[in-house]
Amino acid sequence: MVHVITIAQQKGGAGKTTLAANLAAAFAAGRRVAVLDIDPQRSLARWHALRTARGGAAAVTLSDAAGWRLGAEIERLRRSHDMLIVDSPPQIDTDARLAVRAADLVLVPLQPSPPDLWAAEGTLALAAAEKRAVRLVLNRAPASGRLRTMVETELARRGLSVLASVLGNRAGFAGAFAEGLGVTEAAPKSLAAAELRALLAEIEGIIG
Ligand SMILES: Nc1ncnc2c1ncn2[C@@H]1O[C@H](COP(=O)(O)OP(=O)(O)O)[C@@H](O)[C@H]1O
Ligand SMILES: [Mg+2]
Repeated sequence: MVHVITIAQQKGGAGKTTLAANLAAAFAAGRRVAVLDIDPQRSLARWHALRTARGGAAAVTLSDAAGWRLGAEIERLRRSHDMLIVDSPPQIDTDARLAVRAADLVLVPLQPSPPDLWAAEGTLALAAAEKRAVRLVLNRAPASGRLRTMVETELARRGLSVLASVLGNRAGFAGAFAEGLGVTEAAPKSLAAAELRALLAEIEGIIG
């Protein structure tokens, strides 16, 4: 069965592209993975270009189809892959709506701060309207602290599902990205990689 994971959050800089690249790289170790970059900034496409140029890393298919081609492209990628990961722009446009609609799981990265939570509201409402499974992912989270507790309490109060695995603020994520890799490939013994593997296991538990 093909799994489609769409990563969405209206806040720029929340970690969408970082999460997309790292999940793609980690899943690519055992599955046929495609990434679909529908953000006009094309950061994930550029990550993929670095990955291809360096060679040797597990294969990941890239598509950056958008607009009227998007629906057919999602169907095409589904036919030839086990996993499709869609990275979306920091706004809910027509393409982002379609990507949420096509998803088996919507992941919403957010840093533990009120503006990130507020920015996520539109995406969460869209996922709910489309009846999609959705999970929040705390990114750049401190190990503990007042702000993190406050945000977690607020998420629980709203009945939102947050993954237990969180990603810390770690330079390794940017370092791996700059090499066209995920942290599990660039620095498998790092804390960042351990966090990523925990996240991956939790996601696999959800999508089966
Ligand atoms: N967990 C993290 N630790 C450290 N830096 C991070 C982390 N997640 C993202 N970043 C950095 O934050 C910036 C924005 O991340 P990005 O994934 O591009 O966000 P988005 O796609 O949501 O705009 C990038 O420079 C990225 O390297
Ligand atoms: Mg991005």
